[in-house]
Amino acid sequence: MQEIIQELDNRRKQARLGGGQRRIDTQHAKGKLTARERIELLLDPGTFEEWDMFVEHNCVDFGMEKQSIPGDGVVTGYGTINGRLIFVFSQDFTVFGGSLSQTHADKICKIMDQALKVGAPVIGLNDSGGARIQEGIDSLAGYADVFQRNVMASGVIPQISVIMGPCAGGAVYSPAMTDFIFMVEDTSYMFVTGPDVVKTVTHEEVTQEDLGGASAHTVKSGVAHNGFPNDAEALLYLRRFIDFLPANNREKPPVRPTADFSDRVEMSLDTLIPDNPNKPYDMKELIEKVVDEGDFFELMPKYAGNILIGFARMEGSTVGIVANQPMVLAGCLDINSSIKAARFVRYCDAFNIPIVTFVDVPGFLPGTSQEHGGIITHGAKLLYAFAEATVPKVTVITRKAYGGAYDVMSSKHLRGDVNLAWPTAEIAVMGPKGAVEIIFRADMGDKDKIAARTEEYRKAFANPFVAGKRGFIDDVIMPHNTRTRITRSLRMLKDKKVENPWKKHGNIPL
Ligand code: COA
Repeated sequence: MQEIIQELDNRRKQARLGGGQRRIDTQHAKGKLTARERIELLLDPGTFEEWDMFVEHNCVDFGMEKQSIPGDGVVTGYGTINGRLIFVFSQDFTVFGGSLSQTHADKICKIMDQALKVGAPVIGLNDSGGARIQEGIDSLAGYADVFQRNVMASGVIPQISVIMGPCAGGAVYSPAMTDFIFMVEDTSYMFVTGPDVVKTVTHEEVTQEDLGGASAHTVKSGVAHNGFPNDAEALLYLRRFIDFLPANNREKPPVRPTADFSDRVEMSLDTLIPDNPNKPYDMKELIEKVVDEGDFFELMPKYAGNILIGFARMEGSTVGIVANQPMVLAGCLDINSSIKAARFVRYCDAFNIPIVTFVDVPGFLPGTSQEHGGIITHGAKLLYAFAEATVPKVTVITRKAYGGAYDVMSSKHLRGDVNLAWPTAEIAVMGPKGAVEIIFRADMGDKDKIAARTEEYRKAFANPFVAGKRGFIDDVIMPHNTRTRITRSLRMLKDKKVENPWKKHGNIPL
């Protein structure tokens, strides 16, 4: 018996060593933690239950039959984060560069299947040289097995990817189908084809970091939702982030006790909007003053800054925030901001998270690059997402709500449940200046006449009362009461039930 126990112990020790001390040292020298160290930081201490520690690949080509490492380049299992069940896989770069073999993929699929059965999130820590080259097509089959599960799990359990090393070629498409992607700065990158191929095909010279590092994907492409300076910070962030999310699409997110009064009055909001309608103000300030304890967990902060998205809590319950940001492009909707917000709205809707929308939008961004880039299709995504969403939807218009963009931003017409406006709201087809220039074109030469017409238009339309008269907004509220009014609305909507007509699935303009 003692011998058997000793053998188990030895086998475990060997598996835990992955590709060996030399490769672990190389991993550390790059500023990266090992697959197991990452799991230890991510999960509550002592909760990790590892599966398939002794799995080995079955490749016999290129001398691979002589090189087998238990675990085969990925550590998988489950544990808890703040007491809540989480499944995790963590690719081990010290074992064949974390490359994906058929058995490596099978291990990932196994925990994904189990997570789906019990309704718990899956977190993938990616650090891999891609398809196991020695295995060829078996490895590609393995990727596709994971992709298929990503799609089946989408909208059922939260799926989160953290890119902590290489992630190239086909490997990018599993993270791409998960709900959120986080990256570690300087040590991680994602691209479909690397710098060498890029150089051969397009003659562009580009570094890995510029092509697919955290800066590329959190600022330029919008592929990743946030970047962090090192592994530890990324994992600690994730521990905080996961608390906003429910375990699956049949549950509500956890409620966190808060000392913040639901009827807290915030007098400074009464002076947030500048007198000059063309002067920006910081929408983030408004969000932070309204949500529980000023804790706004922003996502994609460096990408399409004209719209803000992220999670916060009201009376301890998670809400998704969508808000135009007048500080960037005057808060106009454009292609990138529409896509950014649309996916977030759909996430919230899939996972029972109420949506609070703050509106200050002068319209869609004009220009050939927008039109030729397909703003019609992309803007429609956001419209579609708000319109199909059946979760509680509370909207507050702080200032401009012009034109089609007014309709898009969770308006009453798209089944907004509670639509409120500040007295400073201007809900109209367009701003007074633009409107007068069109409908009184004949008077354009006469400055006084134009000024009088503009003032006339402003009085008639640039206010919340025309929309109020028609019931398109439910009430005009004092800015300082915004938190109270939103919390009451959300409380009223707690048991909201709306079903869309049966369909296989809709056809969102992609
Ligand atoms: N399949 C099999 N083994 C792989 C691998 C892969 N796709 N990628 C890396 N490895 C192995 C390497 O052979 C090396 O093995 P060793 O420790 O026994 O020497 C180990 O993983 C580490 O790789 P190395 O190249 O030394 O690390 P690096 O940090 O210098 O470079 C990469 C990392 C990912 C840039 C580089 O390994 C690479 O280009 N890999 C191939 C990527 C690829 O084309 N994948 C297939 C298409 S998806």
